Parts: sequence; C-alpha cells; structure tokens
Amino acid sequence: MYLGLDLGTSGMRGLLIDPEGVARGSAEAAYPVSHPHPGWSEQDPQDWIDACTSIIRTLLSTHPDDMSDLKGIGLSGQMHGATLLDEQGQVLRPCMLWNDTRSHAQAAALDAAPGFRDTTGNIVFPGFTAPKVQWVAENEPGIFSRIARILLPKDYLAHWLTGGFTSDMSDSAGTAWMDTGARRWSDALLTHCGLSRAQMPTLHEGSAVVGHLRDDLAGTLGLPESVPVAGGGGDNAAAACGIGALGEGDGFVSLGTSGVLLAARNGFAPDPATAVHTFCHAIPDTWYQMGVILAATDSLNWLAATLKEDAATLAAELGDRIDGPGRVRFLPYLSGERTPHNDSAVRGALTGLDIATGRTDLTRAVVEGVSFALRDSLDALRATGADLQSMIAIGGGSQSRYWTELLATVLGLPVALPAQGEFGAAMGAARLALCAATGADPAAVMTKPEISETIDPVPGLQPAYDAACAGFRSLYPALKDHT
Ligand code: XUL
Repeated sequence: MYLGLDLGTSGMRGLLIDPEGVARGSAEAAYPVSHPHPGWSEQDPQDWIDACTSIIRTLLSTHPDDMSDLKGIGLSGQMHGATLLDEQGQVLRPCMLWNDTRSHAQAAALDAAPGFRDTTGNIVFPGFTAPKVQWVAENEPGIFSRIARILLPKDYLAHWLTGGFTSDMSDSAGTAWMDTGARRWSDALLTHCGLSRAQMPTLHEGSAVVGHLRDDLAGTLGLPESVPVAGGGGDNAAAACGIGALGEGDGFVSLGTSGVLLAARNGFAPDPATAVHTFCHAIPDTWYQMGVILAATDSLNWLAATLKEDAATLAAELGDRIDGPGRVRFLPYLSGERTPHNDSAVRGALTGLDIATGRTDLTRAVVEGVSFALRDSLDALRATGADLQSMIAIGGGSQSRYWTELLATVLGLPVALPAQGEFGAAMGAARLALCAATGADPAAVMTKPEISETIDPVPGLQPAYDAACAGFRSLYPALKDHT
C-alpha cells in the first residue's frame, strides 16, 4: 500500500492506494490560515504535523491491515511557502504562504536583477519563496541571520517524517532560486540573496526515494519501519500526475483556492513575459507550464462569507445550464493577480451593480469573473506555444456543472469531468510513492481517469460571453489606476 499526503492551504488529505493504484481509503484534517495584515497569509507548520498525525491515526484505525502493509509515502503540497529553520531545526517564524503578497517590492527588485528571469524561466512573483526570504532579511534581520535551512511546506513534512532536508524539482522550481532547465539550484541566484546551497534541501526527482521513515516516529505512530518516502511534487505537478497529464497536449483546469490552467510540455520552453509559470514536472526530464490566478473558489468563498451563506448553496442557485452572461462584472483580484498581470497591488471589483441586483447576480458575476480570468491564462499559455485541445476539470469548483459549462464556453474548449473517484494531488503523491518504492515507470502508473462527462462549449452563447470577456478585460487598466 502507498500513502499520498497532500498538504493543502486549508487542510491536508491522505489517500491510501493499492499496488494497482486503486484508492483504498482517505482521511482529512483542516487547519487555519491567518491574515494578520492585508496581503499577509501565514500558517503554523506545527499545524501540518498535527494534521498529518491525525490522518495517519485515522487511517490506522479505519484501515489497519492496509496501513501495516505500507510500502511508501509520497508528498504533495501548496507551493512557494517559506518555512525557516534554525540550526536546531526549530521553526523561526510562521510560514509565509504562496498567496502572501507582502514581498512585492522585494519581488520586483529580484525580477529586475540580472539572471533571475533567464535562469528560472519565470517572473519573480511576490508569492514565490525568494522574495519572502528577502522580506525577512530586510524586516526581520535577527531571524534572517539565524536561518540554517529553508524548506517548502511539504518538505518540512518530509523532514519530520525522515529527519532529512530534501526537496523535489517541481516544488523547488517555485522558489526562484533554481536553474529550471538544468534542474539544479543556482548558486548565483542564492548568492544574490545572501544565501548558500548549504541552507537549501538536496534536490531529487519526485519519483525518487528521498529518505525513510524515522524509527522513533514509526514506533510512536505505529507504522512499519523504514517506509521509503518519495520526493513527491508541488500540488499542481502532483495533480498532473493524479490525472495522467505528463506530455504535450495534456492539461487541466483547476478550480481550487487558486485557479490553475496547466499544460504539460515535453521540453523546457519558458516565456516569462507572458506571466506564465514554467516549472519542472514531478517526473524526470519533463516540464509544465501554467497560468495561475490567485482567487478562484477563494472568490466564491469570499462572497459566501460576506453573504453568510454556504458557497455550495450559492453555486447551486445558478442551476446546471448557462444562459448567457449577466450584467454585473467581477474582477477576482482579491489577493492581487499573477497571470497575466503580475500585479500584487491591484484589488478586485464589482461593476454594473443595479438597484435590482440580487445575490444570484453576484454569484453569477463571481463565477464569470473567475472564468474570464482563466481565459486570460489560456491566451497567455497559447502565446508560449502550449497547444491545449481539451482539458480535465479538477478542484472543488468543478462540482458545479454550471461553472464547468461556463468554463468550456468561455475557454472555447471541451472540459472533461472525471468520474467519481480519486484523481487529485493526493493521488499524484501516492502514485509518486508507488514509482519511488517499486521503480515502476511513471508513464505506466500515471494513467488518465475515467471520464464521466465531457462538457462542450455552447456555441450559440459564445459571442455573448466573448463580448462580456472583452468588457471584463477593459476594466483592469482603470482598476490598476485606483490601487
Ligand atoms: C502555484 C500556486 C498555487 C499553490 C496553491 O504557483 O501558487 O497553485 O500551489 O496550492
């Protein structure tokens, strides 16, 4: 049996699979995000350890036989977070997460410095790890001087599990310290930030073994001894493994806290000017590109919290079928935006409000605004040469048929919905564990899910949505001037 652990933004999910890759059981545990100031987003790394402990204990009680036969653990996680450790391995401050935008000035300075775009293949976004650590250097110098190790969230969990300091290529590509094409740390970029390779974890492929479960932990938790732990992947690369998006033409649209449009690529062909991300995949010799919007279901959750309603209830009120765009426009820049604007200062907006506007109009505006923002990402991806003919929809928002039909129509692409089952980042992490522990070929393990329905664009409505999307796009320049 193989266990995939996905360390998400709002909680962790553990998924147990058998040697054929079939799901046996799962468990989840939630933890909070704190926003002590506007633009800040932090988490206590101890919460991840507690969640992991609780998930393992749950699985031990629900699947005792499977867990006693555990042969590998794989990790996936929210990307970019900076977990800073001192010489004793103690956490120096709360982890600054991927959607923390406080380091926008540091990001702009690094982005303008020679070498960063060329070596990493990406814009240095404020969400990436390097500018966060620069912010610490400038604002918390006492902490910066004590940094012995810098770990991404899932790599902190790996450290707890194995005692080692390791990472994988796909997650590390989001730090802005990596030579993404060569798949190694860049000493020049680390030196520019006042850091050295000694502070960084050793790099492995996601499908390789990075260490083994600590004996003391195996004893305390009641797990078999020396279980191998795989490198795993950043959550988007792991999700791509979960749905079998490994090569050219494969991709997904994810409606999670963030929104992601991902295209697997056979080679390394970065184009930072498009604000598209170009990262290593979690399997050897492979890369992927993606457009990232910072608030997808986060936008609907914001509306739900504001209206004191449940997000699923709001989505259900839209029905199952689209019937043309509403008159209210929503710009989902609640935390700034990455693709295509690279603008951490901009904030969201609602326009076109009328005395008759009701909550269904607002919900419709929100899901439309997120879909239009993803259309911006699609155009940016296409400008890099990524050729997407169809895509699989994943993430919580894809449970709304209305939203997926809207996406298909706005993107002008068929959107396939996987049949009930497991296919997310936890599945990708479990598959990486299986490959690492057995040496199996990733291409044979990372198959595509069964599709329950493919939703085609509604041709008759495309012109109306195209016009609404043009209206959406025309609002950004005005909004930019007001922030
Ligand atoms: C990707 C990104 C997000 C997080 C969310 O660059 O920042 O998708 O990985 O978990």
